[in-house]
Amino acid sequence: MIVGHHVTSYGEIYETVPGLFEVAAASDLDSERAENIAAKIGSFQSSKPVTYTDYKEMLEKEELDAVSVATPHFAHHQPSIDALNKGLNVVVEKPFAITIKAGLKMLQAVKKNNRILACAEPMRRSVGNRTIDWAINRAGLIGEPRFFFYQHARFSLGVVVGTPWRHQKLMSGGGWVHDGEVHYIDFLRMVFGDVAEVYAKIRNFETTRYLDTQNWKNPVPSDVEDTAFAILTFESGLLASFTWTHAATGKPLDIVRYYGSEGSLDNEGVLSKSGEYTPMSELENKFMESITAKEKEKFFPHGMTNPSAIAFYNFFDSIRTGEKPEISGEDAFAAQAICEAVYESDACGQAVRMEDVISGRFNAFQREIDERWNI
Ligand SMILES: NC(=O)c1ccc[n+]([C@@H]2O[C@H](COP(=O)([O-])OP(=O)(O)OC[C@H]3O[C@@H](n4cnc5c(N)ncnc54)[C@H](O)[C@@H]3O)[C@@H](O)[C@H]2O)c1
Repeated sequence: MIVGHHVTSYGEIYETVPGLFEVAAASDLDSERAENIAAKIGSFQSSKPVTYTDYKEMLEKEELDAVSVATPHFAHHQPSIDALNKGLNVVVEKPFAITIKAGLKMLQAVKKNNRILACAEPMRRSVGNRTIDWAINRAGLIGEPRFFFYQHARFSLGVVVGTPWRHQKLMSGGGWVHDGEVHYIDFLRMVFGDVAEVYAKIRNFETTRYLDTQNWKNPVPSDVEDTAFAILTFESGLLASFTWTHAATGKPLDIVRYYGSEGSLDNEGVLSKSGEYTPMSELENKFMESITAKEKEKFFPHGMTNPSAIAFYNFFDSIRTGEKPEISGEDAFAAQAICEAVYESDACGQAVRMEDVISGRFNAFQREIDERWNI
C-alpha cells in the first residue's frame, strides 16, 4: 500500500513545516486498513483522523480542503471527480487515470470547479534526476540530444507489489508500462519535452504470476503485458529505443544512456566526445552549487530530499499560493497518454501520433476498460 509511504512523507512535512496541514479523515474499503493508517497519522499530529469505508460519506460529512487519491487505477477518476465537484483540491497517484477518457473527465472536472489537481509523482524530484535534467538542459554537457536507450530485461514471475489487480487489465489499465514506466515518462517529459509519435509491440509471455514465489503458490492469472518494445519520437526529433520486459530468462540487461552531439550521459556520469569523464557524484555537486537559493527552495523545499514528501509539499504549497503545481493534471495526463499510445500502437499495428490517441481515434486497447467502468 503506497499510502503507508504517503503517511511517512506527511510526517516528514508535518515535522518540517508545523501547521501546514492536518489530516482530518481517512477512507479505505477495508476498515482495518483505514484504522491502521489513521493510527499512524495520529502518532505525529494532535488528533487521529476519523475513518470511513465509503469515501462518498467522508466527502459528505467532513469539512475538507483537499483529498489524496491512492486507490487502484480503476478507482482514480471517480473519487477525484467527486472530490473536485465538492470544491476540493485533489492530489492523485500515478498513473493519472485508467484510460484517456477517464483522464479527460478528470481534467473537465478541474476546469468546471477551478480547483487544483496535482499528481503525487515522485521520480523527477530526486537529486539524481534533477541533476540529469540540469546536465542536459542547462549545462549542455551532451550537446544537442540525439537519441537514447532505455533497456531493462529480467525475469520475474512475482505478482507486482503483491497486488493481483495490477495483473488484470480491466482494473489496472495495463501492465508495467502504465503502472511503472509512467514514472520514467514523466521524467522524460521534464527533460526532453513531449512525445509526438509512438510505435510499439507488447507481449504477455507469462500468463500466470505467483503471490508466493518462495513456494510457487497462490497463482494469479495475468492478462497484461510483461514485455514492451517501443520507439518514441519526441517533438524535438529526439529518438528513443525503449524496452522493458520481465520475461527475459538468463542474463538481465539494464541500460539507460542518453547520447547527444557532444557526448553521452548515464547514471554513472558524462563522457564527452573528446574523452573527458565526469562522474555523477561530481555532477550532483556541480548542480547543487549552480542553482540559486530560490531554485533550491523550489526543488528541495525546506531542505527536504524525499521525492514523495516534496510532491505533497508542492501540492499543499499550490493550494496556499494558487500557483500551478509542478506536475498538474495536464502534465500527469500527458505522461499517461504516452503509455496509452504504446498499447494503442500495438493494438492497431502501426505508429500512432499522440493527438490521435488523445482524441480517441485509436482506442482499441482501452475500449473494453471504458465499457467496463462506464467511462
Ligand atoms: N508513487 C509510487 O512510487 C507508487 C508506488 C506504488 C503504488 N503507487 C500507486 O498508488 C495507487 C495504489 O496502489 P497500491 O499499491 O497502494 O494498491 P493497494 O491495492 O495496495 O492499495 C489500494 C487501497 O485502496 C483501497 N481502495 C480501493 N478502492 C477504494 C475506494 N473506492 N475507496 C477507498 N479505498 C479504496 C483498497 O482497499 C486498498 O487498501 C496506484 O495508483 C499505484 O499505481 C504509486
